[in-house]
This record gives sequence, C-alpha cells and structure tokens, in this order.
Amino acid sequence: MLNGFIKSLRTPFSRFREDLFFKRIDLTKVPKHVAIIMDGNGRWAAKRGLPRLAGHRAGAEAIRRTIRAAADVGVKYLTLYAFSVENWKRPRDEVRGLMNLFEETLRKELQELHEKGIKINVIGHLEELSKSTQRCFREAMELTANNKEMILNIALNYGGRVEIADAAREIARAVRDGKMALESIKPETLADYLYTSGSPDPELLIRTSGELRVSNFLLWQIAYTELWVTAALWPDFEKADFYQAIYEFQQRKRRFGGLEAD
Ligand code: IPE
Ligand code: IPE
Ligand code: MG
Repeated sequence: MLNGFIKSLRTPFSRFREDLFFKRIDLTKVPKHVAIIMDGNGRWAAKRGLPRLAGHRAGAEAIRRTIRAAADVGVKYLTLYAFSVENWKRPRDEVRGLMNLFEETLRKELQELHEKGIKINVIGHLEELSKSTQRCFREAMELTANNKEMILNIALNYGGRVEIADAAREIARAVRDGKMALESIKPETLADYLYTSGSPDPELLIRTSGELRVSNFLLWQIAYTELWVTAALWPDFEKADFYQAIYEFQQRKRRFGGLEAD
C-alpha cells in the first residue's frame, strides 16, 4: 500500500527532476566518455525482503534507462561495470543467476540497441565465462560492430589490475620479440595496450550506493576523471540522476595539475 503510494508520488517528481536537470545541461559540453560502477542491487533487495537476484533484475531496468539517458545527451562512450574479477567470491547461485540475467537482458535488448546504432564491446576476460555467455556476447559484438552512435563497453569479468598486467605482458612480449624498443615505452604505449585502447579516458565516473571507492575499475584510465557518487542504490538510479551527474560535472573546474583557465 504505502509503497504504491510513494511510487505514485515519485513518478511526477522524477519527471520534474528529469526536466530540470536536462534543461540545465550544456549539450555542447557533454563528457564523451562516462563510466559507471552500478552498485547497491543487493541492498535494494534486502530493504524489500527480496532475494539478491531480484535486486539484480531491478538493476537491469536501471541499465536500460541509463543507456537511453546517455544517448539523449550525446554521450559517445558509456562503460558499465557489470561483473568484476572479485565478484567470483560470491555464492555460486548468485554468480549463475547474474550470468543468466546478463544473457537474458542482452537477448531482449539487442535488437533495439542495434537499431539505435549502439556498438557493444565487452572489456574483461570473456573467455573464462560459460560457452553460452560467451556466444551471447560475441554475437552481440559481431552484430553491432559497425555501429557508430555510441560505444557501450560492458566490463564483464573485469579487473583494473588484471588489465594493466595483461598490457604489461603484451608490451614485454613485443620487446622480447624485437618489435618494440625498451626506451620507447611511454604512458601512451601502455594506454594503447589496454582493453579501452582507442577510446578517450572517461571524464566522469559515477558510483551509486554511496560507496567511496573505485573497486578495481579502470584504474589507469581514471587518473584525472571527475568522480560523482550518489547514495541512490543502482535499481533506484533514474534518468534524472544521470542528468544531474552530467550537470554537476559541467560546473566543476578541471585543472589537470595546472592553473585554472579564465
Ligand atoms: C552491484 O550490486 C552488482 C554487482 C556487483 C554485480 P551489488 O550486488 O554489489 O549490491 P550490494 O553492494 O551488495 O548492495
Ligand atoms: C563493484 O561493486 C563491481 C561492480 C559494480 C560490478 P562491488 O559490490 O563488487 O564492490 P565492493 O565489493 O563493494 O568494493
Ligand atoms: Mg556492491
């Protein structure tokens, strides 16, 4: 009862917030690349006395909304943290449930994402996942390979330190094989060997659920990224929150170690 009442109030209010922040956004200065640590599904479910997987399901809806919101303001790269290399520590049932949910959601959304010109790209060790999960994501990547409207990076079985170690190994191999001079290695060389090579670094990193940590996400790429944390749990994350993050990002002064420009 009460939940329904609160929901009926929330809808017009979130529309109001959505319009408010959308109108304030300078569409000529939208970050090219936004990364999101989608956190709080479990706590969202626990608050309702539901199993954790119900939280993950509600989280899938928030992903839908967020991709739309990002497309509406013209974000070119959206990177979503879906499953970390540390998330294997969770109970087997939760991991299995999550993988099934990823497949189910991707199957359901793929056509629409493709029609919107979104290119799907997995970052992380996809080859360690089940055959069926691999197939599902590989098919999505193939189908959308030539799309240009937006790149949707899905960080799946992803770890920032693993990514840097992978890059270091490839660079060492190139040096060993005489294809690269040791002295030529620069920060840009390492960036070229990361999973995100070719994409700009994210200008904005959003984390939900109020946690103030980066949890092994894009460690190299976020050197100068603006961080924006909301207390909202991921399933409650709305378009209005995304627009608010973009708007507040636009009010910040980025100095990159230099002095403020006039
Ligand atoms: C984020 O929500 C989803 C994944 C990590 C896959 P959590 O499952 O971490 O939710 P909390 O942090 O336990 O609330
Ligand atoms: C980060 O969330 C990973 C994803 C969102 C996929 P976690 O819930 O795993 O992070 P910690 O354990 O709170 O740092
Ligand atoms: Mg969490």
